[in-house]
Amino acid sequence: MAEKTLSIIKPDGVRKNVIGDIIKRFESNGLKVAAMKMVHLSRKEAEGFYAVHSARPFFSSLTEFMSSGPVVLMVLKGEGAILKNRELMGATDPAKAAAGTIRKDHADSIEANIVHGSDGPETAVFEIGYFFSGIEIFE
Ligand code: CMP
Repeated sequence: MAEKTLSIIKPDGVRKNVIGDIIKRFESNGLKVAAMKMVHLSRKEAEGFYAVHSARPFFSSLTEFMSSGPVVLMVLKGEGAILKNRELMGATDPAKAAAGTIRKDHADSIEANIVHGSDGPETAVFEIGYFFSGIEIFE
């Protein structure tokens, strides 16, 4: 059965005009867009999404960055979608990301790292449910 994961093109990705390049990489690698919307998150909405990181020193800066401009939210679907998306993104820190990955090619820093992807099945359920209702996801 196809797996689902949440993908976010972060404000830096939208500002750099690389939405299309990023989606093309997903579609070319066996992932399908099952839901999509563009929103400008409030600070509170960003804080709720990243609540698991609330004790981290970078939490304030991260949530300020994530609410600094519109983002593209997507549910990606496919065999092994969570891992596939993580492979396509590359390491969180673009300096450590492998050649040919989205972050290696587009990201400037560990915070402004262009994309987010769910890191496991439980996270994916929480993250998809945070932004999308059932009728917004196409099977
Ligand atoms: P993301 O995949 O969205 O998940 C949490 C985010 O926190 C991560 O990408 C980075 O943008 C950010 N992050 C993780 N570690 C650090 C760090 N050491 N300094 C600043 N931001 C970080």
